[in-house]
Amino acid sequence: MALSDFDRYPLTFGPSPVHELPRLSRHLGGARIWAKREDVNSGLAFGGNKTRKLEYLIPDALASGADTLVSIGGLQSNHTRQVAAVAAKLGFKAVLVQESWVDWPDPLNDRVGNILLSRLMGADVRLSNEGFGIGFKSSWEEAIADVEASGGKPYAIPAGASDHKLGGLGFANWAYEVEQQEKELGIFFDTIVVCAVTGSTQAGMIAGFAGQERMRRIIGIDASAKISETRDQVARIARNTAQLIDLGRELRDDEIFIQEGWAGDYYGIPVDSTNAAMRLTGSLEGMIIDPVYEGKSMAGLIDLVSGGEISNDSNVLFAHLGGQPAINAYSALYH
Ligand SMILES: Cc1ncc(COP(=O)(O)O)c(C=O)c1O
Repeated sequence: MALSDFDRYPLTFGPSPVHELPRLSRHLGGARIWAKREDVNSGLAFGGNKTRKLEYLIPDALASGADTLVSIGGLQSNHTRQVAAVAAKLGFKAVLVQESWVDWPDPLNDRVGNILLSRLMGADVRLSNEGFGIGFKSSWEEAIADVEASGGKPYAIPAGASDHKLGGLGFANWAYEVEQQEKELGIFFDTIVVCAVTGSTQAGMIAGFAGQERMRRIIGIDASAKISETRDQVARIARNTAQLIDLGRELRDDEIFIQEGWAGDYYGIPVDSTNAAMRLTGSLEGMIIDPVYEGKSMAGLIDLVSGGEISNDSNVLFAHLGGQPAINAYSALYH
């Protein structure tokens, strides 16, 4: 099946905006930097990368006759907030397992930001003490069983909507959207920089771009601080997605590229380079990025551009995947 043969339930405004970051580019003195803005891709609770992924899972959920979306993430998960929004919009119930993925001392961590928004949208938010992990979790399996036991029909969405057969399609489609926008702008983005944690964002992009004529570099920046798990997951989802959309060839190992160096020691804990990237992007461009994901991938972009690993004649596209609501749980850092 070609990608266009898969059902897609529209949850976004349409193609997400692409624009240049001229002051940041000038400041770094190298490549031209652009952003594609998933943080403003939808009117559903601030959107983000999961909203795009869910466009391809929702037809499957509707076809299954489910009445409850069940998903999982950390206390400040952007993903579960987007599941809550989509559930509200379509009339599903939402059961969200919110685990303690980050050892972060903010006393309002389980009250503000994403979790507040999910509660506001009527989700059944269940706190769990389990730590960080992108694999299938028993807490999630229990929540699914619990919905069944109370007579509901769950539709299970794994962390980040990633390890799901359709999880890579949203960003495979993003790759085609970029190609279209390049034609309109008269530009070619030879390098894409994208944050990677649960993996299907970068994996989908790899599968989608692999079917295009001109090759480009898709640099994943790890924000999980567990690089080998992220690499395995991105590779597996990229290959599954490529097969699903009939790419017609195997992906090569060199097409799956994730760099470490900006995650710090732990998922969810910003380090100096994260905070510097957030302040630089905010003060030069008025573009807000978060301390968990985009602050880390932007820190990677900044070093790769200023160190010349991304060459001066490059056009770089930064995938802004959303995530700003979590900033509210980090107020101690930004005053
Ligand atoms: C704002 C933001 N950026 C990046 C990511 C990473 O995307 P993925 O989990 O698909 O690797 C996520 C979710 O995990 C996110 O919420």
